Amino acid sequence: MNQTLESWLGDQIQELHDRHLYKVPKILETPAGGRVRMNGREVVNLSSNNYLGLANHPNVKQAAAEAVERWGVGAGAVRWIGGTMSVHDELEERLARFKRVESVLVFTGGFTANSGCIPAVLTNQDVVISDELNHASIIDGVRLSPAAYRKSEGWVYAHKDMDALDDCLRRASEKGFAKKMVITDGVFSMDGDIAPLPQIVDLCEEHDAFLMVDDAHASGVLGKNGAGTASHFDLYGRVDIQLGTLSKALGVVGGYIAGSKRLKEWLINRGRPYLFSTAHPPMVAAALIASLDIMENDPEPMNRLWENTRRWKAMLAEAGFDTMGSETPITPVYVGDEAKAQEMERLLFEEGVYALAIVYPTVALGKARLRTMPSAAHTEQDLADALAAFIKVRDRLG
Ligand SMILES: Cc1ncc(COP(=O)(O)O)c(C=O)c1O
Repeated sequence: MNQTLESWLGDQIQELHDRHLYKVPKILETPAGGRVRMNGREVVNLSSNNYLGLANHPNVKQAAAEAVERWGVGAGAVRWIGGTMSVHDELEERLARFKRVESVLVFTGGFTANSGCIPAVLTNQDVVISDELNHASIIDGVRLSPAAYRKSEGWVYAHKDMDALDDCLRRASEKGFAKKMVITDGVFSMDGDIAPLPQIVDLCEEHDAFLMVDDAHASGVLGKNGAGTASHFDLYGRVDIQLGTLSKALGVVGGYIAGSKRLKEWLINRGRPYLFSTAHPPMVAAALIASLDIMENDPEPMNRLWENTRRWKAMLAEAGFDTMGSETPITPVYVGDEAKAQEMERLLFEEGVYALAIVYPTVALGKARLRTMPSAAHTEQDLADALAAFIKVRDRLG
């Protein structure tokens, strides 16, 4: 049977509607702060990854504006083709010092850092062992590699299950793969829990595997000045590859791979999104250097982030909401049913709170939740207003 593209798209989109999985982005009319105007309404914003409030920080904006004057608005080309602007190199040097690693290579996004790095370090002689709740960009990066990785072949372990990881590593050694890679989120992006990194590092060392940690949601949140999970657990030098994002706590956009000098050299030559895609505008690099200055010298934003995180979790728990054991600012409020979660999001918005319903395929079917993110930009009043709305909507929906 021949089907046109348009009729196929129509069927697929209808199915998304029928299954309550259809997404429509709301229109944000102000900077991404604690209180925003969205779709014409003033709301408390609980759905931004702007953890430290840096996306609209005056120093960061000023650095970007000055960089536009100095460098113009575009990098002009891929870095190895058109030349690397010194501001891009400076950012990488700063990030390497911040992470206490030999080298850092910046990509234009966290997603592209995963899809650039993972396939570049694997061959068809290798295996990737992955936590079942790893982020989509890890899964896609792994799929781009020729290594063995499939769940059906036993290379995906149950979430944070260290016996299951040990078993995978044992089986992988028996099968004689050339390299074994273990990969995990540092902070799990939809559940807000932290990977048991000390145990994972020990297991990797015991079984001669190398480890990659995706610290997208730990960057700016955990560790010294927000240096991530390796810093949080004092595992400097024991994580082979760390991914960080520049799009969330650092307030701008981008991702980076932190590791050895040799790793950087290899990714410059074999990391396809680096090799075949234009560099960030220079103002992005300059703004990120300003964000790092703030993170390294002013503890206030991170202190406020954690104060608000503790406050918000305690408020929700006291009101009887299930926050799914989250340990970081990412605070899911469990609902389960997709339709109910979407209805709750809609009613909360009417009450002046934006808390996104997260449904399949971002999380498993039947595990829908409202994902709330307290940040340094929220006031006590914002959180009190948000809680009042949550209680009102819950009572209304029974
Ligand atoms: C764990 C994880 N890795 C990578 C990414 C991608 O980062 P970016 O938004 O910088 O592309 C995300 C984004 O949500 C994430 O949660």
